[in-house]
Amino acid sequence: MKRSILLHPDPRLKKVATPVADVTDDLRRLADEMLSSMYGAPGIGLAAPQVGVLDRLIVLDCVKEEGEKPRPVVMFNPEILAASEELNTYEEGCLSLPELFADVTRPAVVDVRWMDENGAEQTETFDGLWATCVQHEIDHLEGKLFIDYLKPLRRQMMTRKMVKVKRELARG
Ligand code: NI
Repeated sequence: MKRSILLHPDPRLKKVATPVADVTDDLRRLADEMLSSMYGAPGIGLAAPQVGVLDRLIVLDCVKEEGEKPRPVVMFNPEILAASEELNTYEEGCLSLPELFADVTRPAVVDVRWMDENGAEQTETFDGLWATCVQHEIDHLEGKLFIDYLKPLRRQMMTRKMVKVKRELARG
């Protein structure tokens, strides 16, 4: 089953998500469904609040090369342990703001700790697109969107666009 993805603006996208105590079968199923939704969109990352679940859970797969093996990663309670001083700017998008993109500058390299789908602790250093994506998804767990990094005018413009998109979708 695929989960439908909430569109900005939505109050649930502004909430701080709750840490996961145990990785239950229900949470594993949710992670699988989130991966299906992410791949189906298609996208490279998705956070639980985007499907209306306020748990600290994100999924990502930033393998982009044609023919390269996919690498779905499921992270419960992801945490950035260290971030490089070196910065990187990427044109970011978000499945909750389809077809809207903007340059965002973030640390180029981050060390991340998380609990995997088996409840085991993992740490890994991410760079490139993976670093950007994991930071973008962790932001979702804090109720933060990539447009929050933009100047207010630009942010308001994008929000207005999304309000219009949602109005049109509601009309059907
Ligand atoms: Ni996003």
